[in-house]
Amino acid sequence: AVRPLVDRFGRVHTDLRVSLIDKCDLRCRYCMPAEGLPWLSKASLLTDGEVVRAVGLAVRELGITSIRLTGGEPLLRRGLVDIVRALAALRPRPALAMTSNGVGLARLAGPLAGAGLDRVNVSLDTLRRDRFHHLTRRDRLDEVLAGLAAAAAAGLHPMKVNVVVQRGVNDDEVVDLAEFCVEHGYQVRFLEQMPLDAQRDWTPDAVVGAAEVLDRLAARWSLTPVPGRGSAPAETYLLDGVRAADGGPATVGVVAPVSRPFCGSCNRLRLTADGQLRACLFATAETDLRGALRHGASDAKLAELWLAAVAGKGAGHRIAEPDFEQPERPMAAIGG
Ligand code: GTP
Ligand code: 5AD
Ligand code: SF4
Repeated sequence: AVRPLVDRFGRVHTDLRVSLIDKCDLRCRYCMPAEGLPWLSKASLLTDGEVVRAVGLAVRELGITSIRLTGGEPLLRRGLVDIVRALAALRPRPALAMTSNGVGLARLAGPLAGAGLDRVNVSLDTLRRDRFHHLTRRDRLDEVLAGLAAAAAAGLHPMKVNVVVQRGVNDDEVVDLAEFCVEHGYQVRFLEQMPLDAQRDWTPDAVVGAAEVLDRLAARWSLTPVPGRGSAPAETYLLDGVRAADGGPATVGVVAPVSRPFCGSCNRLRLTADGQLRACLFATAETDLRGALRHGASDAKLAELWLAAVAGKGAGHRIAEPDFEQPERPMAAIGG
């Protein structure tokens, strides 16, 4: 029988985000410094087999039904296609998604779709080549655009584009990005920046709130909220009278963890690339699954660790509290 991952607040965890690597081939300024981060050692990363064992157990015994592969940049993980194939073979078959910077998708979208990946979200903060180069410190916008097209061609639908809105950096591109995504049949989501940068220079006033983004969009379109959000971080809006590329209604989204926290309905759990269970992005503690995996733990023992990780989960992030302290590990090491 399935033992659901229920926490002290009654939240049932069915969605697992699995970080496969902390490295990235971009250097977004809000994420990491030019020189990169002190990367995890090869030995500390879960092996492909360990990832599949850990996730397989969670799917078979703990009620996980939806898996999202993240990084760093997951396309840099050597065994990625094989991992996807193994996860797609699990029963009950979980939904399989990935969040990527898009750089390597032109090459990998086809093989990933063939291996069983269902859909992909791509991070893209600007459509201007010079701005992309500045923001990510790499001149690779063309590769990301080619990657988006390849993912669409490979059938990784519905595709979403994530934009971290930053004041004075790309906040003037909200409407342009939305237009681009509508034209191509992608759902754009504008994200509020969270305090998870390695440099620790996040400040509340740098956050462009969802309200401001929606004002910019409302100046161009009339927006109708889509009900039934469930546990999704994104709030979705219909662009009245606008058709998406596939003929269906065009939508945009905002993800507003800072101005409108959604912790109350959180159903997400994280497994880091080095095998630590993290019940919240902003958790201060992790549960060491890797140690157990490497010391011959039984499935029953591993299941206990998952249940304990969820039992220790806090009510939510405390970004707005005066004594808030940013987590030790940055976004790239947690997986977003
Ligand atoms: P969909 O299932 O396609 O809606 O994906 P998603 O929005 O859950 O995942 P994605 O990786 O595209 O993340 C979009 C934004 O939501 C990023 O800024 C994530 O860091 C953020 N996000 C996702 N899950 C959580 C969460 O549990 N808590 C917080 N605070 N942010 C989250
Ligand atoms: N706050 C919010 N979103 C972020 N992302 C990266 N850093 C942050 C941050 N500090 C986005 C990425 C990716 C997703 C996983 O999170 O652009 O799309
Ligand atoms: Fe940018 Fe994502 Fe890479 Fe961070 S992990 S540098 S946000 S692409």
